Amino acid sequence: MGPPLALVLAAGLGTRMRSRHAKVLHPVLGWPMVRHAVAACQEAGLEVRLVVHHQEPQVREALAGLHVAFSRQEHPRGTGDAVRAALADLPATGTLVVLPGDAPLLRAQTLTALLDAHQGRLVTCLSVRLPDPAEYGRIVRDGDQLRIVEAAELVLAGRSEAERAAMDEVNSGVYAFDLAFLHELLPSLQPHPPKGELYLTDALAAASARGGAAVLCHSGDPAEVMGVNDRWAMSEAERRLGERLKQAHALAGVSFQDPASTRVEVEVLLGQDVLIGPGCVLARGVVLGEGVEVGPHCVLSRCRVHAGARILAHSVVDGAEVGAGAQVGPLARLRPGAVLEADVRVGNFVEVKQSRIEEGAKVSHLSYIGDARVGAGANVGAGTITCNYDGFGKHHTEIGAGAFIGSNTALVAPLRVGVGAIVGAGSTLTADVPDQALAVARGAQINRSDLAPRLRARNQALARLHAARSSGEGEPS
Ligand code: UD1
Ligand code: CA
Repeated sequence: MGPPLALVLAAGLGTRMRSRHAKVLHPVLGWPMVRHAVAACQEAGLEVRLVVHHQEPQVREALAGLHVAFSRQEHPRGTGDAVRAALADLPATGTLVVLPGDAPLLRAQTLTALLDAHQGRLVTCLSVRLPDPAEYGRIVRDGDQLRIVEAAELVLAGRSEAERAAMDEVNSGVYAFDLAFLHELLPSLQPHPPKGELYLTDALAAASARGGAAVLCHSGDPAEVMGVNDRWAMSEAERRLGERLKQAHALAGVSFQDPASTRVEVEVLLGQDVLIGPGCVLARGVVLGEGVEVGPHCVLSRCRVHAGARILAHSVVDGAEVGAGAQVGPLARLRPGAVLEADVRVGNFVEVKQSRIEEGAKVSHLSYIGDARVGAGANVGAGTITCNYDGFGKHHTEIGAGAFIGSNTALVAPLRVGVGAIVGAGSTLTADVPDQALAVARGAQINRSDLAPRLRARNQALARLHAARSSGEGEPS
């Protein structure tokens, strides 16, 4: 026998989300919701199959790279119908875990605990006690007989709100099934009015009648089995999962100055002694080395920051690499393809795109560096712009090691400033500068002695003449 199987139900649209997109595609901390369910199953050692229908291509895309199989539910008619749609693709015997694709907080340990408790019964249903059982299906125990009654049916049956609230043990939607039992039972499920849906939950009563059902009440955090049905619940799931991720990072040696205001997505790797200021976003795929400091209100995505580097307040870093000991910001923007080597300084209002800035070089204020290479130890003055785009194509700028670029210089690419060269402030360079040369490219300055008082006197005379004329015009002629 191979590893146990899991079937993730992901065919529903999720009407309560009020969205064009299938519910399971909505992201929760950087992963589409369904990917969380799949990851928990795989972590528990389960082989995963999904039931899909709505936006099937996008759901497959969302799981690209994961080893999973798919079954199609042609006309979604409820959770019972969803499992039925996969029957032909499932083995005749063995154990099947069924779980919803809309439970992103579910952990691998909980699936393992369910399988341990299952012990070859026909079905074991995972339940949970909720202070506010709301729209969940309720576990009903009549003597030793077990069944699940959907919240909507309780309403139809005339149960009062107080009665419904008192029925606080709910179905998590996670079950372990005997496969032979499912093959036998599912074809005979009866539709429930008014929508004519087939309920997988009916399997509990059927198994119970044969003495083969059990309910395992979840002992951990009840929120873990929370199903996301609307957007508010999704926000809540993000908050809770974020808390779990941040806590794990914190216990592994990361400081969050204000965890509540900081967003940390999945697949973020943080080294020891990383310090994260308030209000930061660390999106999926961010890797921060040991001792990296991130100041308040920084947004980091798809980037790697090496040990000891500092990203100062209000910086935005996407698709970039920051070398060890480098300093970025405050208020800097690193765009995709920006590579800063060790000990580089990139200061406020500097934008870097698709450029390598080599060891120890400085771009401290108000610059745009795009499609460029800045050599080691070079100093790029305030307001320097690489004019990389001529309206047709992008061109490369090369600044040699140790070069000094004076403030407010425009480097019109393609261009090479040589090693150790010096460029005078305010230059507009359109031709290469040889190694060690001094280049100045601007209108030459003219000083005329004593001209300032004469200019002032002339302007005052002109002003008086003008005033006299305009008061003359105001009088009748
Ligand atoms: C279901 C359970 C309810 C339980 C709750 C836990 C039923 C009848 N009810 O209700 O007892 O408390 O989960 O969260 O099972 N899906 C399909 N195909 C379909 C319908 C649904 O694949 O035809 C998928 C959905 O995409 C979703 C999952 O099944 O991922 C659950 O469906 P949903 O409509 O959210 O069920 P609930 O009403 O929450
Ligand atoms: Ca649900």
